Amino acid sequence: VRKAEVIDYYRARRNRRAVRIVERIGADADGNLDPGEVDGILLRAHAEIQRLSEEFLQARRLHDLLAPMISALRRSGVEPPYRVVDIGCGTGFALRWLAMFGELGDDVELIGADYNAALVDEARGLARAEGLRCRFEVKNALELDRQSHIFFSIGVIHHFRGDDLETFFAEQRTAGAHAFLHFDIKASWLAPIGAWIFHIARMNEPLAQHDGVLSACRAHPSHELLRAAQSGTGDWSVGLWDEDHSPVPIFRVMHAIVAMRPELPVALERALGPRAHRLELATR
Ligand SMILES: C[S@@+](CC[C@H](N)C(=O)[O-])C[C@H]1O[C@@H](n2cnc3c(N)ncnc32)[C@H](O)[C@@H]1O
Repeated sequence: VRKAEVIDYYRARRNRRAVRIVERIGADADGNLDPGEVDGILLRAHAEIQRLSEEFLQARRLHDLLAPMISALRRSGVEPPYRVVDIGCGTGFALRWLAMFGELGDDVELIGADYNAALVDEARGLARAEGLRCRFEVKNALELDRQSHIFFSIGVIHHFRGDDLETFFAEQRTAGAHAFLHFDIKASWLAPIGAWIFHIARMNEPLAQHDGVLSACRAHPSHELLRAAQSGTGDWSVGLWDEDHSPVPIFRVMHAIVAMRPELPVALERALGPRAHRLELATR
């Protein structure tokens, strides 16, 4: 990646903060960004994302929905093993948490996939150190060798803009999945300010601070997530998990767009039990 091209890209978009971040990264004699430095920045940024996820109990919130979704597959007669795939797993915090504390059952396989080899190496090393039953691959998560039953992601979908979001959802249905759950920052008038406070207060890495705030600005509104999921998945049931309808949306800063094959909602609601109110289905 040529440093001058990246700087030009951000200058053209008047993103001075990004220009300053890239200017500080070293380059070789040909003007290419130093890959070791770039990996270091991304590893530190993801360690800081993990700390924020821990503080927001993100893995628990995922588990509250994922475990019942797996039960719904079992109750609906879907054949095990159930492959749960984290799209854009980064350093694998969510999957490692699920492997350590999730008690999802021996018939569940946990797989993380990310394009970034440095992040996946870190995820593998951390999982090995703790003897966790999960695996990580440097790959497009939508093109794994075996069928994936449930796709999920955390903090990824705001990267997909325009028609790409609908395509992203459609590809998961085409890949043979039974359901997906994608968690992201909830778009609200407070999200950019809240993200700014949290990222300035809790993060040290300049890229993490900057990208965290931009991510909140880029978060898709709930109606747009529902529209893209509906048109991307056809007859699937789609809904939102952990919507917050209060005028001051500070208690649930993350929500999820959820979609599943039409035979699953009844079994899911039964498996959710008292937590069923956290799921608002727009279509059945
Ligand atoms: C913000 S980072 C991931 C954050 C991570 N989920 C976490 O919570 O720490 C987004 C990642 O998504 C990855 N990504 C996006 N689409 C992907 C795909 N189809 N397959 C694998 N990785 C993907 C990128 O490589 C990037 O590392």
